[in-house]
Amino acid sequence: MSLGKIIDEKNNDLSKRLDMQKVPQHIAIIMDGNGRWATKKGLPRTYGHKRGVNVLKEILKASKKLGCKVLTVYAFSTENWTRPIKEVDFLINLFREVLRNEIEEINEESIKIKFIGDLTPFPENLKKIISSSESLTRNNNEFLLNVCVNYGGRQEIVKVAKELAIKTFSGEIKPSEVNEELFNSKLLTRGIKDPELLIRTSGEKRISNFLLWQLAYSEIYISDVLWPDFNEIEFLKAIIDYQSRNRRFGGIESLPNESLEDSQYSS
Ligand code: IPE
Ligand code: IPE
Ligand code: MG
Repeated sequence: MSLGKIIDEKNNDLSKRLDMQKVPQHIAIIMDGNGRWATKKGLPRTYGHKRGVNVLKEILKASKKLGCKVLTVYAFSTENWTRPIKEVDFLINLFREVLRNEIEEINEESIKIKFIGDLTPFPENLKKIISSSESLTRNNNEFLLNVCVNYGGRQEIVKVAKELAIKTFSGEIKPSEVNEELFNSKLLTRGIKDPELLIRTSGEKRISNFLLWQLAYSEIYISDVLWPDFNEIEFLKAIIDYQSRNRRFGGIESLPNESLEDSQYSS
């Protein structure tokens, strides 16, 4: 599918700078800045959350169009329970309403939706709609949308550690069998390749307990734009920036004309 022109504020056509062959297949996003966006406008913080939903829909569409396959978004962290009860309640109701209104279209678009996190503290009516949305879209294979709710990276790691400890204690596995691969296979994101790119909006330069294991080698892009103002243009800027990175994974940049024998260190 051709991308069509995407013109930024300086009148550049961003679609020309994008390499469609190098679009990350899995992008993780910390959708941050909803509250500040609303406060700046003299509105209650909840307006920012509501507006943020439209942005997620736009970014989901853009991701699909670009050929990305998985989007993992942070919607509610294990630490967000410390917010005023009114805001927490608003968010829980918003998740339910959005799912109710959007699930049909999500399904028609052949998107599989998955919720990642500990769902136990949520009200039954939300758990029910989460479960029916997951079953409805289970066999969709165009795109995967992971929504992280009541998610914490540390909690996820501790949960796996506990599970493996129990299996070791019962003799089901040997301690020597515990390795990265086994650990990975027990994470909530099992079966999904790690994100190549993490985007955080609103200028904050921290991970805030998001996907601690999975982000080990992700490229990080911080956008100063608050999530409710984020859009396809800003998203494309992040991907173009990602495409300019040299991912070394602890190795060294491969130089095409230099062999080990030619290097200054050989005798
Ligand atoms: C992100 O926006 C959404 C959630 C955490 C639910 P915030 O609500 O954190 O907005 P700021 O960071 O306070 O502006
Ligand atoms: C991270 O944002 C969580 C979500 C976006 C859901 P926060 O706003 O909660 O993170 P901190 O408090 O700035 O670290
Ligand atoms: Mg925030």
